[in-house]
Amino acid sequence: MIQLVKTVEEVREIVSQWRKQGLKVGLVPTMGYLHEGHQSLIKRSGENDKTVVSVFVNPIQFGPNEDFASYPRDIERDIKKCEEAGADLVFAPEASEMYAGDFSTYVDMTGPTDELCGLRRPGHFRGVCTVVSKLFNIVLPDRAYFGQKDAQQLAVIRRMARDLSFGIEIVGCPIIREEDGLAKSSRNTYLSSDERSAATIISKALSMGEKLIENGEINAETVLKAITEKIESEPLARIDYVKAVDADSIEPIQTISGRVLFAAAVYIGKTRLIDNFIVERN
Ligand code: PAF
Repeated sequence: MIQLVKTVEEVREIVSQWRKQGLKVGLVPTMGYLHEGHQSLIKRSGENDKTVVSVFVNPIQFGPNEDFASYPRDIERDIKKCEEAGADLVFAPEASEMYAGDFSTYVDMTGPTDELCGLRRPGHFRGVCTVVSKLFNIVLPDRAYFGQKDAQQLAVIRRMARDLSFGIEIVGCPIIREEDGLAKSSRNTYLSSDERSAATIISKALSMGEKLIENGEINAETVLKAITEKIESEPLARIDYVKAVDADSIEPIQTISGRVLFAAAVYIGKTRLIDNFIVERN
């Protein structure tokens, strides 16, 4: 039977019992409103003996004009989804449990956070790195699982885990898509039915870019231009960015060589959606 806990002390107590028994622990950090993407991370964490899922809409990773207040929340539904996928423990703290009134210590990063969402959402990765560090310190997992849909976040967490010597294996898991290609996201629930149809332009444009590369295109600008034009053909879409960067350092690239991340952030109406693909060419 899955357990729900709300305090740091309770998680520590339960996980330390597991550790005494020599069990391996996986952590799946989430902001809740779980979908098959999150469930795929939980299932992958089945390679551990126990899986903890954190459900916490982290206030400090949202900008002042972003959707913190309206972000979908339903803990009962999340518990069911966690149980279905095989999790053992849900940690769903209140904000006051994570952030004392005079909280003033942050984990900041330069480099991989400078481009893409880091550039467009100032302070976002500072919030992500801070909360993920706290979750790592609270749960002390052997492995932690993150989706490839947030490709920059995955690169940032890998860098942070290495730089701060967390000793936790960071496992990236593939993007899970709807049948029509739209990447699964809790924010898809914001879309009206017209917007939901329009949103498919993002994955369509990216697939087209991927095909150009498969057919031999090596100039990143050419591919970015084709992706941009395709997205712009959809009247409900407004591009925030379409960029090609090194998949690990997140530095901009011109020629497609090594592991290259093509990433897009696009507003469909008021909803900002992200998607990407990675190509490897040597
Ligand atoms: O990817 C998310 O849902 C969040 O950024 C994370 C990693 C749970 C941190 O709040």
